[in-house]
Amino acid sequence: MSRPAIAIARAIFPQVVERLQSHFDVVTNQQDTLLSGPELAAFARGKAGLLCTGSERIDPALLAACPDLKICANMAVGYNNFDLDAMTAARVLATNTPDVLTETTADFGFALLMAAARRVTESEHFLRAGQWTRWSYDMFAGQDVHGSTLGIIGMGRIGQGIARRGALGFGMRVIYHNRSRLDPALEADCQAQYVSKEELLRTADHVVLVVPYSAASHHTIGAAELAMMKPTAVLVNIARGGIVDDVALAQALRERRIAAAGLDVFEGEPQVHPDLLALSNVVLTPHIASASVPTRLAMANLAADNLIDFLVHGRPRTALNAQALGLA
Ligand code: GLV
Repeated sequence: MSRPAIAIARAIFPQVVERLQSHFDVVTNQQDTLLSGPELAAFARGKAGLLCTGSERIDPALLAACPDLKICANMAVGYNNFDLDAMTAARVLATNTPDVLTETTADFGFALLMAAARRVTESEHFLRAGQWTRWSYDMFAGQDVHGSTLGIIGMGRIGQGIARRGALGFGMRVIYHNRSRLDPALEADCQAQYVSKEELLRTADHVVLVVPYSAASHHTIGAAELAMMKPTAVLVNIARGGIVDDVALAQALRERRIAAAGLDVFEGEPQVHPDLLALSNVVLTPHIASASVPTRLAMANLAADNLIDFLVHGRPRTALNAQALGLA
């Protein structure tokens, strides 16, 4: 019996490639060559499955070029690289990697918050540049994290992980805003209080963004929202580029209208707006919030599980459109 064929769009852990090779005929891009849309389509043409990352766009052009495709397994929890409606119309199952990255990503949200509030990278650059010649009382004095008010916009699994860290580990008062309110038991578990977005922006000492990207969440934080924040506030974005208006943020940071920011995601990444690169009061990381070795391996294995479960056993696992396809 012939085995299904799959394509792996980017380099992933060799042991996961081997796992997939025991079920499928596999073509893989282990050199990690950057593929244009047409190159990706040529690569995936004739395949039943595609393992991809958030960098690959699954859009109508790719779907039209790959009529044999039955599943695209994203190695990411966010899936704004998927045109979900077009995938459903083409009867292609879309899957992502929830849960396995929740705690690691929440850790990183805190790492960025701590680094930005306590000026960790800025002071390290100063030291490495040989500028540390004497101690002074206000050298790199930043903002406190413990005991402050933490505002979380987007209270899914990762937002809840950040809330728990803030409340239980740092004695913070936690407020949150979300499309819908959590049920009271979950609110109590996270020790988080629901408030309007405006109240959150006006009262939080630190604001962490964890909302999924969509047309509705585009520029959740722009000039008007930044103007509501405290001048001592720190803004952290571990959600997606485009949730923050990066130009407006750079201006607010430059004019010290907020104290600092920690950003893991950017509009138009991997390009980063030059205005942000020029500032010392922003910590910049290259979209690595889920990048611990065990978590990246778990994400790759979950993407592989999705391909195996669906193409070999006919069962969707962590699927986004199973219901729309009548499979759940
Ligand atoms: C990373 O950004 C992810 O969505 O998993």
